[in-house]
Amino acid sequence: MKFKAIAAGVFLVGVAVTAVFAQDGTHEARSALMKKNGAAAGALAAIAKGEKPYDAEVIKTALTTISQTAKVFPDQFKPGTETGDKAASPKIWQNMDDFKARSAKLGTDAETILAQLPADAAGVGGALKTLGANCGGCHEIYRLKTE
Ligand code: HEC
Repeated sequence: MKFKAIAAGVFLVGVAVTAVFAQDGTHEARSALMKKNGAAAGALAAIAKGEKPYDAEVIKTALTTISQTAKVFPDQFKPGTETGDKAASPKIWQNMDDFKARSAKLGTDAETILAQLPADAAGVGGALKTLGANCGGCHEIYRLKTE
């Protein structure tokens, strides 16, 4: 009886883990994280270009989003999730250390900028250049064009 209960518990945990994996490691999950990055970078760009007024809270939120996304993004590329995503290059799994390092670098850069928050639109523009080099550098190698 007791064993059955334990076995049932293990089974349930197994199901829960499978359910998480079904969502993780898909194009949709990866894309959702990157779209957050895109929106955050867009908010910074609007301030840098003077389309939106300087707003420290908006800048902080955008930088926090980028830093948090950078921390979890590589988790979406576990072994066994290599296929079925036309936007993710096989090179990611071949060079996982480099891929992770690039994501970590983006996160560190975002945190550094957060700690010394840009004081005006020009400062936000400079920050965006630093961040954008990370985005572009990784995309060039690891993101495939889908159209
Ligand atoms: C560590 C590598 C890496 C970094 C750094 C990175 N990206 Fe990406 N990005 C990717 C990959 C890989 C994809 C394709 C993901 C997929 O669909 O599987 C992608 C896709 C995207 C997309 C398309 C999402 C969609 O499906 O519509 C956007 C937008 C994007 N990235 C924005 C950014 C921005 C903005 C930054 C910087 C703040 C950034 N990325 C930094 C690797 C990276």
